[in-house]
Amino acid sequence: MSHHTVLVTGGAGYIGSHACVELLNAGFNVVVVDNLSNSKVTSLNRVEAITGKLVTFYEADIRDKQSLSDIFSKEQPSTVIHFAGLKAVGESCEQPHLYYHNNVFGTLVLTEVMQEHNVKQLVFSSSATVYGITDKTQYSEDLPIGAINPYGRSKAMVEDILRDLAAADSKTKSDKPWKIALLRYFNPIGAHESGLIGEDPNGIPNNLMPYVAQVAIGKLPQLAVFGDDYPTKDGTGVRDYIHVIDLVKGHISAIHAFKNTQFISGNCKAYNLGAGHGYSVLDIINTFEKVTGRTINYKISPRRDGDLAEYYANPDLALKELNWKVEKTLQDMIADTWNWQSKNPQGYQ
Ligand code: NAD
Ligand code: WQD
Repeated sequence: MSHHTVLVTGGAGYIGSHACVELLNAGFNVVVVDNLSNSKVTSLNRVEAITGKLVTFYEADIRDKQSLSDIFSKEQPSTVIHFAGLKAVGESCEQPHLYYHNNVFGTLVLTEVMQEHNVKQLVFSSSATVYGITDKTQYSEDLPIGAINPYGRSKAMVEDILRDLAAADSKTKSDKPWKIALLRYFNPIGAHESGLIGEDPNGIPNNLMPYVAQVAIGKLPQLAVFGDDYPTKDGTGVRDYIHVIDLVKGHISAIHAFKNTQFISGNCKAYNLGAGHGYSVLDIINTFEKVTGRTINYKISPRRDGDLAEYYANPDLALKELNWKVEKTLQDMIADTWNWQSKNPQGYQ
């Protein structure tokens, strides 16, 4: 068992809270820094209830350099997992400055503080959104980057910054080089099997799975299926859905991989975290109905701006170098979403 401390930015959020559970279960000490702009501290109380272990929590903004620096001095983390950021594509088009400030400037402050404290192992939440428009439906890490909205560009910019940081070290032959894993998530859904933590979006959900769950529980009247004339198996959009627990296990695998040859001399590498195949919107609806016994009221509606027909991960590199692959099925993802939704119809409040 390790006694290393992992500092988790954005650890009170959806993916971050699940990461805290897996980190604690793997024997790490966990320190969370979150400004609670899109989460509630209740999630961390639930993490403690699930694991029987304590989380050290700081309510702070990662852009506040002095506070962050004080936290690093006190907690002496060996590794950072950086989830903190804003993630709504539509909002990023309306408020680009807010997105670049949070996601790009926030990461600059974080890495500056890390550098000053000589903490140089970083796992970053990137996204499949960084891939440019391509005629391929299966995305490998070597596809060109070319995000199409401010949110996606903020992730692509951070990837560039982190690659440059690692490259600068290799030029100066630093004796403690950066080790950075850029994890490109596909579509995370699901919840911890306890039903104690899960996704708790503010207002009306943007994403399919929380929307379906809120229709199922009666909070929302009807799902709009955004287009049924795409060139896919049934005309609806196809995505690579990944259980949030599989996803966060990929982060633990990345931390372990920092000890492997490709990271020993320092490196910044991107890895897709996905299942390697997709499901359509209708697959999701049909499986949700089968697993939960509820009927999903839906209506075929116009396409949503900016949506692609179909894409999914090539997850081979993560298997080869991180020894990681997904283990859970779509049934698991839906059963766990429903368990969380039905036990917490109002989310954390
Ligand atoms: P989330 O909003 O639930 O979690 C993000 C957390 O970061 C929140 O708790 C929020 O309060 C905190 N935060 C935001 N700005 C902050 C700041 N400046 N200082 C401190 N804390 C701050 O979102 P999530 O779904 O858990 O996503 C986590 C990360 O994964 C994000 O970076 C997101 O862009 C990325 N990601 C998410 C998805 C997805 O579909 N959920 C897909 C790909 C990538
Ligand atoms: C999935 C499918 C929709 C809602 C987004 C971000 C991406 C990433 C994950 C962070 C699509 C359809 C959806 C609805 C629908 N986030 N849909 N009715 O768009 O693949 O990815 O979240 O990095 O950046 O863009 O996910 O869940 O919104 O949509 O028919 O009410 O469901 O058209 O085919 P998406 P999603």
